[in-house]
Amino acid sequence: MTADLLLALDQGTTSTRTIAFDAALTPRATAQEELPQHFPAPGWVEHEPEDIWRGSLATLRAALDGAGGDAARVAGIGITNQRETVLLWDRASGRCLHRAIVWQDRRTAAHCARLRAEGAETLLTERTGLLADPYFSATKLAWLLEEVPGARAAAERGALAFGTVDCFLLWRLTGGRVHATDATNAARTMLFDIRRGCWDEELLRLFRIPAPILPEVRDCAADFGTTEASLLGAAVPVRGMAGDQQAATVGQGCFEPGMVKSTYGTGCFALLNTGARAVASRSRLLTTIAYQLGGQRTYALEGAIFVAGAAVQWLRDGLGIIAHAAEAGTLAAQADPAQQVVLVPAFTGLGAPHWDAEARAAIFGLTRGSGRAELCRAALESVAFQTRDLVDAMRADWPEATETVLRVDGGMVASDWTMQFLADLLGAPVDRPSVRETTALGAAWLAGMQAGLCPPPGAATTHWRLDRRFMPAMTRAEAARRHAIWQDAVRRTLTR
Ligand code: G3P
Repeated sequence: MTADLLLALDQGTTSTRTIAFDAALTPRATAQEELPQHFPAPGWVEHEPEDIWRGSLATLRAALDGAGGDAARVAGIGITNQRETVLLWDRASGRCLHRAIVWQDRRTAAHCARLRAEGAETLLTERTGLLADPYFSATKLAWLLEEVPGARAAAERGALAFGTVDCFLLWRLTGGRVHATDATNAARTMLFDIRRGCWDEELLRLFRIPAPILPEVRDCAADFGTTEASLLGAAVPVRGMAGDQQAATVGQGCFEPGMVKSTYGTGCFALLNTGARAVASRSRLLTTIAYQLGGQRTYALEGAIFVAGAAVQWLRDGLGIIAHAAEAGTLAAQADPAQQVVLVPAFTGLGAPHWDAEARAAIFGLTRGSGRAELCRAALESVAFQTRDLVDAMRADWPEATETVLRVDGGMVASDWTMQFLADLLGAPVDRPSVRETTALGAAWLAGMQAGLCPPPGAATTHWRLDRRFMPAMTRAEAARRHAIWQDAVRRTLTR
């Protein structure tokens, strides 16, 4: 029997899904489960590790079943995941010592402020390309080692393992035989030197992280071991791994320097491929690893926004003014053009380029005539305004990016209204591909490349097909006027 299937496991912030692709990278079966969220204190966000594991295994099994059910046909699993989220587990029992601390969690804001005050941010940025923000893993891991009774001593004896979600899932899938991650996930921990490609001893000392808890770091397309045969009916090789935004970069075929993708999920993450050069940002973007293949690192400038689709979720679940996410676009199109309601969705602080962990969301410009439609429009527009800020920062850091075409993906790109407004504000074309599950596609492609089913980058990007190009229609003067109103609202929301 030929192994001609690829399973892409995408463990995201709010859901877990597996897509079974055939060798031509056409989706054949999909399975998805919601992931319960825990908010034990204001600004804290946690996931139950067993929920992460159960959902991952259940969707792997269901997608495999949907594609015929024969594990022997699977050429490889590709794992992609919500990044930065931290797990710490006991090597002997496999049990986690605490719930996963999610990337959105702000509990370590004071630790980060201390790092900035002590002048440590320069070292952090030089080595990791990141900024002193609670978003990244290091301060979360330091919190676990400090706060969980007995954790530090156990970590120092080598009894514990640390991992981001990819690493935890690999450990569980391989029955505890492989403790490894890939370079893109390692790059988000704030413990990894992205230029040398190794854990950084000085940063480990700074955060008091014992080296024995760290995983081995591999390429994104590599042999990561095989699954326990009992899990899927046969031992299946794991052959691909990348953080979800990096996998989407691969799935969008952004293999050339200057290509940009922007993914609209819970948050929005835009990555600009900068090739073999790790470009230091002057605009408070992140420098990160886009992918590592054959030991060669390709870098990216990244703009991370914490709230995109989450603003629409808030309209639905928090305010209850829409029943389904899709309603937001319909209502936005009916909003009164004379009103200028602006939502700055800093529900969990602001990410790039502001990095203000203490900022909180605000609405400006409400009048007695403001209603559901104006709020929906403000929420959708906030996503485009934030993207504009990221693209402006990219253009400042990488002047060649003035000719940007933005390749978009994720749930929100289904809204034609939002994509048109995005093109209008950017003054640049916005390309929506026909396969919108680009994160899973990228993970499948990495596994497929390792299995010899898919070509290496550069050879062909045949898996990418255009669905629709949105061209800017607004005058530049009007776009500038709207953007200035947004920038004023952001200024009034910032705390420092
Ligand atoms: O850095 C966080 C990011 O990886 C989360 O992505 O799609 O799970 O919201 P998503």
